[in-house]
Amino acid sequence: MKLELAREDFPLFADVTYMDSASISLTPVQVVEAVTDYDLHYRANVGRGVHRLAQIASLKYNEAHRKVAGFIDGGQGITAFVQNTTAAVNMVAAGFPWKRGDHVVTTLLEHHSNLLPWIRLREQGVLVTVVPPGPDGTISPASIEAAMTPATRLVAVTHASNALGTIVPIEQIAAICHAHGALLLVDGAQTVPHLPVSVQALDCDILCFSGHKMLGPTGTGVLWMKDIYIRPSVLGGGMVETATTNGFTPVQGYRQFEAGTPNISGAIGLSTAVSYLEEIGMAAVRVHEQTLTRRLVDGLRGLGGVTVYGPERAEDRIGVVSFTVDGVHPHDVAHILDEASGVLVRSGHHCCMPLMQALDAPDGTVRASLYLYNSIEDVDLLIATVEELERRQ
Ligand SMILES: Cc1ncc(COP(=O)(O)O)c(C=O)c1O
Repeated sequence: MKLELAREDFPLFADVTYMDSASISLTPVQVVEAVTDYDLHYRANVGRGVHRLAQIASLKYNEAHRKVAGFIDGGQGITAFVQNTTAAVNMVAAGFPWKRGDHVVTTLLEHHSNLLPWIRLREQGVLVTVVPPGPDGTISPASIEAAMTPATRLVAVTHASNALGTIVPIEQIAAICHAHGALLLVDGAQTVPHLPVSVQALDCDILCFSGHKMLGPTGTGVLWMKDIYIRPSVLGGGMVETATTNGFTPVQGYRQFEAGTPNISGAIGLSTAVSYLEEIGMAAVRVHEQTLTRRLVDGLRGLGGVTVYGPERAEDRIGVVSFTVDGVHPHDVAHILDEASGVLVRSGHHCCMPLMQALDAPDGTVRASLYLYNSIEDVDLLIATVEELERRQ
């Protein structure tokens, strides 16, 4: 499939120029059809009944796990379907066998979802260090190593910042973690949708990501673990091998982390989104987004009165570009982009309040975030609209 053709699969583009994919991506008709197909033709619960529809649904649901696991090279580990990245990180924070004095390292680049669950562990006597980024928004492996102590059990770090676009050098951080006997949890919410991600190449122990940011349905996400490091924190139907009034034995594999009826159509839709991405090829997605990102960063940096945040080099970034316009509140910039040109961007703190405080950007930033369906024309429209706004200031 050619990238130029992909846009036709996203009917919303007929009305707007969508540049808020870091928040939630658009979804192609193929995914919507797969979800509808389940509801209309083989809707049944999974892993429970034996009737014909239950068998078809269970088969497709298990196949969805295999498909998504394969997408991240994670076939050897546990791939549990959860609600989103936030749920995945919280399950690890709640289910890990913490002892008082254990230590967690995380960074100031994190989305609240990969920060607040760790911060709250302080109430249980767990020590938490938050490593700040350098002035250009990058995280150096040396700064992570410097924060580690013999008590460090887990390092939780994003693969890419949703606020600054910075890519974090996970492979090097993984080597440091493992040399120190700590686990590495990676928040892949902003990279799994946008570049080839292999848990084997990264050598991480845990990877969390969201389906709705990668063309999939809302309410879908993944907790991948190389091994079982946590206890299930939600108990109930579908997750036990045996149960008595004295206790239970969890079932082997992912099902112990999916108590209750799961989001079956969502899982099937996510698997269809993965097929769609595989057909285009994640390497092609990355190249396309890098070309657009370079043009967007250069274009905005060329305007007076505009500050662009994050790393200089396109290789160090995903397609997330945060900026501010002197004298104009980020929400006003976002309104003007929408009203003047139909360009939809995010504005505000991007669920990264501590980072915004550190950047001295109390009102946050304007954030344009790109995906495979964006074009050079979209980027140029955004730059021209900001230029016009800046000129009128
Ligand atoms: C880097 C990062 N981590 C975590 C999240 C939380 O994702 P969700 O809202 O799908 O749980 C986001 C969402 O924007 C994100 O960008």
